[in-house]
Amino acid sequence: MDSEHQLDQPHTSRVYDYFLGGKDNYEVDRRAAAEILKVWPDIRTAARLNRQFMHRSTKFLAEAGIRQFLDIGTGIPTEPNLHQIAQETAPDARVVYVDNDPVVLAHARALMTAGMPGATTYIHGDVTDPASILRDPELTEILDLSQPIGLSMIALLHFVEDDILRIVRTFLDAMAPGSYLVICTITSDFAPEQVLASQDVYRVRKLPAQVRTHEEVTAWFADLDLVEPGVVPPHRWRLLEATDLPAALDAKVSCYCAVGRKP
Ligand SMILES: C[S@@+](CC[C@H](N)C(=O)[O-])C[C@H]1O[C@@H](n2cnc3c(N)ncnc32)[C@H](O)[C@@H]1O
Repeated sequence: MDSEHQLDQPHTSRVYDYFLGGKDNYEVDRRAAAEILKVWPDIRTAARLNRQFMHRSTKFLAEAGIRQFLDIGTGIPTEPNLHQIAQETAPDARVVYVDNDPVVLAHARALMTAGMPGATTYIHGDVTDPASILRDPELTEILDLSQPIGLSMIALLHFVEDDILRIVRTFLDAMAPGSYLVICTITSDFAPEQVLASQDVYRVRKLPAQVRTHEEVTAWFADLDLVEPGVVPPHRWRLLEATDLPAALDAKVSCYCAVGRKP
């Protein structure tokens, strides 16, 4: 149950849940969402396509042989969750979920539904402190850092104002060759007005928010082998019908996603 304090201000996890059509949100979240919808009317499409990218990229990693997943910025459980996608291909997949929002912590039990031979666990942690996530006993109990890991930070990094390269490097330095980095984040490249106005909706409420450019996102993958088709909007990442999509959809979605492999 949420405390009174949590009902005083919107939480990014609950606002996103509202955009996805979920029920785990409150009046304060819906008011913030309404302000964002005024400036970015297609944000629900963006949320949906981002979620579909999570499905496709997780399946891609499982098919590439990844059996260990570290998903940071998990959000409120939304079926299918990442472990359900991974375990469809690899029933023995092990998943560690991480989020810094007490709201997500309160829902975390719903993420721990995996039976043997797979496993899931949840860590209440902050992506800006990679070292403490990496040494958390919950993580080391089910992930073997000497074997490849799929690290996903999907729809997370636009809520992080810190130096992302430092964060990404700290995680990947601790991970074995053959590990993957999966990212989806909001960009100002296609429709700066709508995206910067929605960034302000968060910032005026003292919530961190930072949109980024193609160049910035590409730089996070500098040490990795970028999986084709590179840094693209989510609907252009390995979707069969992607060739027929109108350019206007890129502005509506205003996100970049990418997958890279540690050589
Ligand atoms: C928009 S949701 C994304 C959920 C899911 N990854 C997806 O793409 O469908 C973003 C999540 O990131 C979490 N988050 C924001 N800042 C964070 C931080 N510094 N550390 C960990 N999680 C964070 C929020 O609490 C929220 O649950």
